[in-house]
Amino acid sequence: MSDYFIAPSILSADFARLGEEVKNVLSAGADIVHFDVMDNHYVPNLTIGPLVCEALRKHGITAPIDVHLMVKPVDRIIPDFAKAGATYITFHPEASEHIDRSLQLIRDCGCKSGLVFNPATPLDYLRYVLDKVDMILLMSVNPGFGGQSFIPSTLNKLREARKIIDDSGLPIRLEVDGGVKIDNIRQIAEAGADTFVAGSAIFNTPDYNATLAKFRAELAQ
Ligand code: DX5
Ligand code: ZN
Repeated sequence: MSDYFIAPSILSADFARLGEEVKNVLSAGADIVHFDVMDNHYVPNLTIGPLVCEALRKHGITAPIDVHLMVKPVDRIIPDFAKAGATYITFHPEASEHIDRSLQLIRDCGCKSGLVFNPATPLDYLRYVLDKVDMILLMSVNPGFGGQSFIPSTLNKLREARKIIDDSGLPIRLEVDGGVKIDNIRQIAEAGADTFVAGSAIFNTPDYNATLAKFRAELAQ
């Protein structure tokens, strides 16, 4: 693993062959598996839950699994994902009644915790909980669907978040999710991100090795 993590979003994978798809992107050089959980309530789409996470573990996937919760309520699904083998569990502050409690619950369950910020959600939520966060995830699209375009104002928000992290001295990862492509990943990295979710830009290509190599080449510049 390099300092930069590439996190394929399995939302764009072929769900009928999910285990194989995940193995293929990992052997092509992906670092972590981004697992989008949508409930048709907090976001207008419905995807997968802890059973699928557990199935990936049983299929021999040992890489970190980065569970992005787009569900409301948040708390009752956290222990289920921890038991199912999640490594990171991140949630949207608007979806939790008690943000501090949800973050603590994730850590108490033995996982790494994170807060997710929609494009128009201010970073202010971080102020009192920074020491309880292992990952900050900035959405660069509105959540719910893959294949949307990167919202450019995310670049300034990434710079703000990078400064908050650096000033804190804490080992917090800064992840970006939505519209990440080969032609913008360098700019996104320069703005401060170190963890890059990419769904359609990976799974909609025929050769994952070639695609991951192109992402890595951009990041190496
Ligand atoms: C959107 C999801 C993303 C999505 C990214 O709500 O959180 O992870 O799958 O897909 P792309 O990379 O296609 O924008
Ligand atoms: Zn996501």
